[in-house]
Amino acid sequence: MKPQIEVIHGDITTQHVDVIVNAANPSLMGGGGVDGAIHRAAGPQLSEACKMVRQQQGECPPGHAVITIAGNLPAKAVIHTVGPIWQGGEQHEARILEDAYRNCLRLAADNGYKTMAFPAISTGVYGYPKQAAAEIAVQTVSTFLTRYNPLERVCFVCFDEETADIYRRLLEPQRGE
Ligand code: APR
Repeated sequence: MKPQIEVIHGDITTQHVDVIVNAANPSLMGGGGVDGAIHRAAGPQLSEACKMVRQQQGECPPGHAVITIAGNLPAKAVIHTVGPIWQGGEQHEARILEDAYRNCLRLAADNGYKTMAFPAISTGVYGYPKQAAAEIAVQTVSTFLTRYNPLERVCFVCFDEETADIYRRLLEPQRGE
């Protein structure tokens, strides 16, 4: 069966998927944006789990990803990744963003999860241009699903309509294939 890629305009904390991705920072200790929303909705168990990861592995460098329980969220697990901070495009931002998406996909697949949801990593506080970031997200997910296919559904959950439209346009040619 061909895996589905979906665009959802909404809040990632309410998604009923196996695993949601958090756009975290290297400390894994929470923050604003989607990170803050996920920590608030998951409750203190998530902070505790992140603290344990920190103690065991130290900080999570940009492009890497770690997995924890999901506390009170409908999802079964949270994958925390750290995207690049946009610095104009000459500081390997594209490669780091691609690594972030790929490492999340690998972690989800390696843990046997079938459905997952991504936010638009790095496009908020970290300032990555939305269109360029979405192109990397769609390309990396599509390539992963073509080559290695344990996932059944991947959702791009966009908090604003502008981002959702960008993703819809990028995915349009793939529909009906
Ligand atoms: N559901 C889905 N997407 C959301 C939600 C939500 N509840 N809240 C915010 N977003 C969107 C933003 O609109 C943006 O498109 O997530 C995208 C990523 O924005 P940020 O959360 O600012 O993440 P990022 O740009 O990767 O910056 C990471 O922000 O909060 C801190 O701890 C985090 O320091 C880290 C930095």
